[in-house]
Amino acid sequence: MTQQYGTPAKTFHWLIVALLAIQYPIGWLMPDIHRGDQPGSAMMFHLSFGLTILAVMTLRLLWRLTHRVAPEPSLPPWQRRSAEAVHGLLYLLVLATTLTGWLFASFRGWSISYFGLVPFPMLASGNPAYNRAIDGLHQAAEWTLLIVIGAHIAAALIHRFYYRDRVLQRMLPG
Ligand code: HEM
Ligand code: HEM
Repeated sequence: MTQQYGTPAKTFHWLIVALLAIQYPIGWLMPDIHRGDQPGSAMMFHLSFGLTILAVMTLRLLWRLTHRVAPEPSLPPWQRRSAEAVHGLLYLLVLATTLTGWLFASFRGWSISYFGLVPFPMLASGNPAYNRAIDGLHQAAEWTLLIVIGAHIAAALIHRFYYRDRVLQRMLPG
């Protein structure tokens, strides 16, 4: 177990931040979906970025599980435990958001391409009965993720400007 995040862990972290910063605005700005609609190009990009996020997050989790990093040793135990809990929740919520979105698109029975290049793999065949439930779950997951990200960023800023310790630096380059 090392004390510091290495370059791969930092690259994964900031790549996911960048992908989510693209994904949320696409999700909010793309046209609403109505029964029987075929997906347009905004939806194609939303699904393609979403699948990319799922792939990168899975690789990141595998990397993390095989390259352990100790929590910042100067922190009191309650802060170490709560940071680890929030980080675990972030991994889970990103995976939940992508999987519910993917199921939603699958139950719609859409056929779409990954960035216009190759057919987008679907998890199930079209099933209108499951659609409404899954739509609610994708929205719940996406909002819960946003709230936990807000808490995570607030904690990073509190460490930087209130405690004035080195927690934020752990994730910065160099
Ligand atoms: C972490 C990744 C993702 C985020 C942050 C995200 C976020 C969003 C957002 C903000 C919306 C707009 C819904 C609203 O008005 O609240 C949305 C809708 C949607 N997303 Fe995602 N999404 C993600 C991944 C995916 C994936 C992987 C797929 C499919 C492969 C997907 C499929 C959809 C579909 C079909 C909709 C339209 C249904 C609806 O309006 O709820 N999403 N997503
Ligand atoms: C401006 C935005 C962000 C800042 C300043 C930031 C900062 C940090 C810092 C300083 C750490 C290391 C904490 C420690 O050593 O205890 C960290 C870890 C982490 N961050 Fe962020 N973060 C940001 C956005 C995000 C977002 C959007 C996600 C969404 C998934 C995220 C997910 C994670 C995860 C999962 C870890 C734990 C890494 C691991 O141990 O594998 N972060 N972040």
